[in-house]
Amino acid sequence: MLKIAPSLLSADFGGLAEAVGEVGTEADWLHVDVMDGHFVPNLTIGPPVVKSLRRHSGLYFDCHLMMTNPGDYLEAFRKAGADGCTVHVEVGGTPALIEQARSLGLRVGVAANPDTPFEAYAPFLEQVDLVLCMTVFPGFSGQAFMAEVLPKIERTRAELDRRGLPAELEVDGGIDEETAPLVVAAGARVLVAGSAVFGDERPWDAARRIREAGEKALPRGQVD
Ligand code: DX5
Ligand code: ZN
Repeated sequence: MLKIAPSLLSADFGGLAEAVGEVGTEADWLHVDVMDGHFVPNLTIGPPVVKSLRRHSGLYFDCHLMMTNPGDYLEAFRKAGADGCTVHVEVGGTPALIEQARSLGLRVGVAANPDTPFEAYAPFLEQVDLVLCMTVFPGFSGQAFMAEVLPKIERTRAELDRRGLPAELEVDGGIDEETAPLVVAAGARVLVAGSAVFGDERPWDAARRIREAGEKALPRGQVD
């Protein structure tokens, strides 16, 4: 019922292929943080790195595009081997971006910053495969979890359930063994974790512990 998506942002960029190996079978997805130095004040990786990583992993690549102009790069990410791309609702043009991603054969998500209201992405719940509620302001790993986002996660879960929509609900930022139960209780089912996984000496074990902590907060009968 839960997916754990380790974020490569906290891995050693000099050894990304090894980092992928370190989470092994405890990772359901690999979360790839793409930052453009404009939408967020940091620069990370782009399609060439995704392409290289693709040769080292069969995992689902969950690409989080923290970019002002994701539409200019969706095709490149698809060709590089991305499975899903998530675009921020704050950049605008969401309907066209969703359509473009779909036409490329990508799964598509919509992301919202901590201070972006539910209403900003509510119109797209039916059209996306994934909703990403940020629990930190994007840009850097290792920031403190923002509990004030929990009501928005609850509201998103309630709306998805009420309308019987299949979109997955992902959270990203400050997720660890302590916060995983909180977001799962609020309704999240895909947990991104960066520093809590790759900051651990045993990343695979950290991912397993986060999963176990989260599973304890699942409604009865939802643990595989
Ligand atoms: C933040 C990124 C996150 C980040 C999470 O901008 O989108 O994916 O890597 O890192 P932690 O888990 O350390 O908050
Ligand atoms: Zn992310």
